[in-house]
Amino acid sequence: MIELEGATVTAYAGAGDQVVTLLEPTTCTLTERRVAVVGANGSGKSTLARLVNGLALPSAGVVRVDGLDTAHEGAAVRRRVGFTFTDPDAQLVMPTPLEDVALSLRRLDVPAHEREHRAREVLARFGLGDRADVPVHALSGGQKQLLALAGVLATEPSVLVCDEPTTLLDLRWRRVVDELLDGLDLQLLLVTHDLDAARRADRVLVVDGGRVVADDLPDVAVDAYVALMGGTS
Ligand SMILES: Nc1ncnc2c1ncn2[C@@H]1O[C@H](COP(=O)(O)OP(=O)(O)O)[C@@H](O)[C@H]1O
Ligand SMILES: [Mg+2]
Repeated sequence: MIELEGATVTAYAGAGDQVVTLLEPTTCTLTERRVAVVGANGSGKSTLARLVNGLALPSAGVVRVDGLDTAHEGAAVRRRVGFTFTDPDAQLVMPTPLEDVALSLRRLDVPAHEREHRAREVLARFGLGDRADVPVHALSGGQKQLLALAGVLATEPSVLVCDEPTTLLDLRWRRVVDELLDGLDLQLLLVTHDLDAARRADRVLVVDGGRVVADDLPDVAVDAYVALMGGTS
């Protein structure tokens, strides 16, 4: 469960002490298994997503995940909440897929002698079994996104936040990642520009100008977003 209570994000911008509000006070309780966040570029989606695993802290208000306050129990929150970036290069730090997943497993206190075996199992589950020892830079964008997800899911999070996981992918890889995300047994907060994926969620938040302007059943919220952008669906 993800709870925001008057959660607000401000930042210093430009020279001097000018403060900008990236997220207006936001209150919501997200209990649904799949929650999608849609909105235009620069609307505040990533700011909202980062609040959930404590990558960003609220300047006012409170954010809780499964009852844990991100401001005061950050380490516990990050153990529980997996996060993936749009660009998997932002989080793949090791030379090979095997080493990258093995590094994630360290966080689970998997003993060193079991890590390689477990990492190979994880990679096989994600269809990357034959890529285990290939340099990460030699993987395709889709394979990198799968690897990023594999590394995060290897830590067995109870909540997964994905910030535009398919934006950089072609249609084929988008389907692969969508299927993977659709089949996960955890709470998913999915930031996406893919309105079909948003419609498959249980609840959709529409962010515009740093505020949640719609929060509803998927078809209602997505239609509101399309109308807001001046289109028809
Ligand atoms: N640390 C920051 N300082 C100042 N402005 C920021 C900062 N982070 C993001 N912004 C601005 O806040 C707005 C929302 O950003 P973001 O949440 O990344 O939007 P989105 O993910 O919807 O594209 C953007 O206009 C962005 O430029
Ligand atoms: Mg973003």
